[in-house]
Amino acid sequence: MPEKLQDIEIVGIVGAGAMGRGIAQVGITGGMTVRLFDAAPGAAAKAAEAIAAQLDQMVSKGRLADDAAAAAKMRLQVIDRLEDMVPADLVVEAIVENLAVKQEVFRQLEAIVRPDCLLASNTSSLRIASIASACSGRTRVAGLHFFNPVPLMKLVEVIRAPGTSDDAIAALVKVGERMGRVPVVVQDSPGFLVNLGGRAYTQEALRIVAEGVATPTQVDAVMRDAWGFRMGPFELMDLTGIDVNFPVSQIIHEGYFFDRRLATAPLHQLLKESGQFGRKSGRGFFEYGPDGKAMVPSPDAPSSTPPAARVVLAEEDEALGELLRSFGFDVTGFDDGELPILCAPLGEDCSTYAARLQLDHRRLFAIDIAGRLDKRLTLMRAPGGRQDLLDALVARFHEAGRAVTAIHDSPGFIGQRIAAMVANLGCEMAQIGVASPDDIDKAMTLGLNYPFGPLALADAMGPATVHTVLAQLQAITGDDRYRPSLWLRRRALLGLSALTAD
Ligand code: NAI
Repeated sequence: MPEKLQDIEIVGIVGAGAMGRGIAQVGITGGMTVRLFDAAPGAAAKAAEAIAAQLDQMVSKGRLADDAAAAAKMRLQVIDRLEDMVPADLVVEAIVENLAVKQEVFRQLEAIVRPDCLLASNTSSLRIASIASACSGRTRVAGLHFFNPVPLMKLVEVIRAPGTSDDAIAALVKVGERMGRVPVVVQDSPGFLVNLGGRAYTQEALRIVAEGVATPTQVDAVMRDAWGFRMGPFELMDLTGIDVNFPVSQIIHEGYFFDRRLATAPLHQLLKESGQFGRKSGRGFFEYGPDGKAMVPSPDAPSSTPPAARVVLAEEDEALGELLRSFGFDVTGFDDGELPILCAPLGEDCSTYAARLQLDHRRLFAIDIAGRLDKRLTLMRAPGGRQDLLDALVARFHEAGRAVTAIHDSPGFIGQRIAAMVANLGCEMAQIGVASPDDIDKAMTLGLNYPFGPLALADAMGPATVHTVLAQLQAITGDDRYRPSLWLRRRALLGLSALTAD
């Protein structure tokens, strides 16, 4: 490849919509010259005005020096003809998400630009290989996948298609860094990295609600308060828009040939079909008032009865006994036939637990101790579980300063189940080489604002624990959806970190 590749100074951008203008902005603030083109007359000029206004705002907030903003504006050139891309070292395409239209633009670009000019697409759902198939030279074609809004989202996925050269990838990584982004190199696979990795969190949450285990507001509260996520899966889906995240789910599920682990729930489609897209339509999983605030029912179990004083452990469990005592319970090993029976299962539901140990399922209550316990606890019971005993337990936890989410029977509660699915998908992405283990975690934290990457999450729970939760889920539901990744299985068996590369 020509040396020029290492030194990209002129970046052409085709498409001056939401993404194109964001990429242009980080291009000029990164010191490169940007040539911006859009097929719609006046669109590129309008985008240039919007970019200038953004830079002015950055200056007024003290985030950009006056002279730097002026110099950046000088580096932005609006062009009216695609032919004016001739001097470009790289052209990034950010036009409508349509394969035939993108292929046509790449064909035209090949005839215009120098042979050493790189060609990149910002597509989020098409394969780079499909776009590159329209080109005669494929070594210079790659993906450069930014996130919206580009100036605020630090991540950029550099997508390697089967024909892309190492030099082209290296040059794009460098461009990404100059644009102030954090590049990760990703294989040309359905959903690339972040859009694939994000499926587990929301789709498992949907299945939990669809099964009647808990409500969206309960799931969100548990994932925020006990598992440290900044947003619950339902508020997240309402924010991104169900008209966007349902089709993405479908594309990825199909792209992986209907792997059960990637299936979403009919409820997801139902909301899409009914036009309940989330925030943008005033109603999704939640309803939004005129002020844009969600009108969310309380996720907390009420307590108006006297608190339970004594509980019996389902089986010997020192850690659980100690924990319950810290909440003020008198913990006994003797079952008098009246006391609430408490257990802390991993991946097992109350029904299975009660049947296995021949316990009175009406008095059996499970507490999820895998997440954080300082704010909110999850309490689960089998069908027919006694409401009076549950109320008394909730009252005791309230006295100890904890909110309680009371749910119906579910292997892995809410939190273990969603966390195990997030971790398992991260492991699977590592196994099939979507990206390196470190890059998977880096991309998921930057691209989705997760507090930790999926592999770090697997390590925090312990790979063996995650494996146990999934194996139980798979055994109890009989659903291949919970099949543990071989990456996870091997690291669990060998006592290794989930971040251990092959
Ligand atoms: P947009 O609809 O805001 O902008 C697309 C622009 O491309 C329009 O200004 C349109 O006039 C122009 N255009 C259409 N056909 C053209 C052609 N043949 N030649 C030149 N210009 C043409 O779309 P947006 O959201 O900016 O998306 C662009 C691309 O980025 C799509 O491939 C999309 O999948 C991808 N993407 C979008 C993200 C998002 O959140 N909006 C995130 C990541 C990727």
